[in-house]
Amino acid sequence: MHNLDKWIINNSLSRQLFAKKINISTATLSRYLSGDRIPKQEIMEKIVKITRGSISPDDFYITKNNNIFINNFKKKHLLGIEGLNKNEISSILNRADDIVSNSKINYSKDHIYRGKTLVNLFFEDSTRTKTSFELAAKRLGLDVINMQIETSSIRKGESLLDTAMTLNAMRPDILVIRHALSGTPHLLANKVKCSVINAGDGKHEHPTQALLDALAIRKRKNKIKGLKVAICGDIAHSRVARSNIKLLITMGASVNIIAPSTLLPSGDNLLGAKSYTNMQKGLSGADIVMILRLQLERMHGTYIPSAKEYFKFYGLDRNKLSYAKDDALVMHPGPINRGVEIDSELADDINRTLILEQVELGVAIRMSVIEHLLNNSEHKNNV
Ligand code: CP
Repeated sequence: MHNLDKWIINNSLSRQLFAKKINISTATLSRYLSGDRIPKQEIMEKIVKITRGSISPDDFYITKNNNIFINNFKKKHLLGIEGLNKNEISSILNRADDIVSNSKINYSKDHIYRGKTLVNLFFEDSTRTKTSFELAAKRLGLDVINMQIETSSIRKGESLLDTAMTLNAMRPDILVIRHALSGTPHLLANKVKCSVINAGDGKHEHPTQALLDALAIRKRKNKIKGLKVAICGDIAHSRVARSNIKLLITMGASVNIIAPSTLLPSGDNLLGAKSYTNMQKGLSGADIVMILRLQLERMHGTYIPSAKEYFKFYGLDRNKLSYAKDDALVMHPGPINRGVEIDSELADDINRTLILEQVELGVAIRMSVIEHLLNNSEHKNNV
């Protein structure tokens, strides 16, 4: 039973009454609860408010037929870090490590995945993620289609689901999607036959970013367990922060999140991280300092007085970095905004920052994820 159905029963309501409270039809609510649709942001916010946080957006990202399989990686899709266990995360990291370090793995000769197809469907801008999925798939011998949204039939009014079903009819093996609406990859996973990879959905998750960040941390620090990671910046609007917090805590690290109070998530939504508004306190003893940009594209309103003021209190420079451990390393998922969330000279210091290393490892992580999904035995039976 869906958690919201349980909440409705526990509060002596009916679906009909609850739908009325949030101003939608009972049929629409039923579609949300069956996983056929996902609530828009404003509806989601009403649900969270009425249930006083008992129901979170994650409750709506249900995937039908999310089959459990026999090998280490037990998912048909990669929709988030949510739901991945330690073994599954380690399996993806270990394979990526092999790819990076084992020159004997020569995919271009073997072409073991020849005939498989990956479709990139990016409704939001991307440099790193889109390019590295393309490169990763090509290195594995897959055919890659980059859907050009601006010249596709979406411009003629075709819905996202109709577009997805059209692509599905061409029988791709993997669909990689980025979309501004949280939960879109989960919705598609319910509709299409192929594997779906979430390349970033709204404020929700960006799982391959968290995986590549974990690989970068593990390569430099030789472990994740026991480390203290400080994530600083616009946490409230960040899918990177959500995926990273989930992954790092699953793998045994502790996480501090640091931001002005306007850019912190609400108190019951910290996912196990400790929150700070003071950089000195939040960075104290950190092994890794992860910096996030201000995600203006997801902000509706004014959250900071000015970029200059923000940099003064929260922009990472050498002085603020000195609050962390002496050997602390700086990470940033990119794109970076120099002089806003990070000092330009520090951003270029390859002895302290891993920014380009993160990009490089992103290709190996995405190769590993593609391999995990393609090698999933049950998935092979399904397509
Ligand atoms: N880190 C990240 O997702 O970058 P892009 O937006 O360039 O893909």
